[in-house]
Amino acid sequence: MGHLSTPPPCILVIHGPNLNLLGRREPEIYGRTTLDEINRNLADLGVQLGLAVDTFQSNHEGAIVDRIQQAAGSHNGLIVNAAAFTHTSIAIRDALAALDMPIIEVHLSNIHRREPFRSTSLTAGVVTGQILGLGATGYSLALRALAEMIRPAVTVV
Ligand code: DQA
Repeated sequence: MGHLSTPPPCILVIHGPNLNLLGRREPEIYGRTTLDEINRNLADLGVQLGLAVDTFQSNHEGAIVDRIQQAAGSHNGLIVNAAAFTHTSIAIRDALAALDMPIIEVHLSNIHRREPFRSTSLTAGVVTGQILGLGATGYSLALRALAEMIRPAVTVV
C-alpha cells in the first residue's frame, strides 16, 4: 500500500503570451475554449491519469524562463505552448534544453499552414514531441502522452 502515500507525478503546463485571451482572441484560429476551461480539463484528466497538474501563464519571457528553471526540482513532465516566443526565444529554448524530463510542445493552430514566420519553432529541437493544429484537444493528448512516458517509473504492482 506504499503507493497510496506516494505523491502523484506532477506535470507543469506553461502557457505563453496572449493565451490568457483564449476564447475571445481570433476564435476562428484559436477556438472558443478559454484558458480556464483548458486548465480545468487538464486537472480533471490528470485525476483520471493519476497525475497532478499545475498551470502557469505569463506574457513575460523572463517569467517563463524562471518557471521552467523551477520545474527541475518539482515536476516530472512539462507541456509548453510558448505562443509567439516559440518563434523568437533562444532563452526559452535554452531553459527547456536544461530540463531533464519529457516535454511536449503544443500549439492550438498548425503553425506550418500560417504566416511563414510561424513555421520556425526555436523550441522544437529540444522537446520530446510536438502536437499542432488540434486546438484545445492537443493539451489533453499531450497529457496522455506524458502519462504513458512517466507511468513505467511509477507503476506499483
Ligand atoms: C500559438 C501559435 C503562435 O504562432 C502564436 O503566436 C500564438 C499561439 C498556437 O497555439 O497556435 O500565440 O502558439
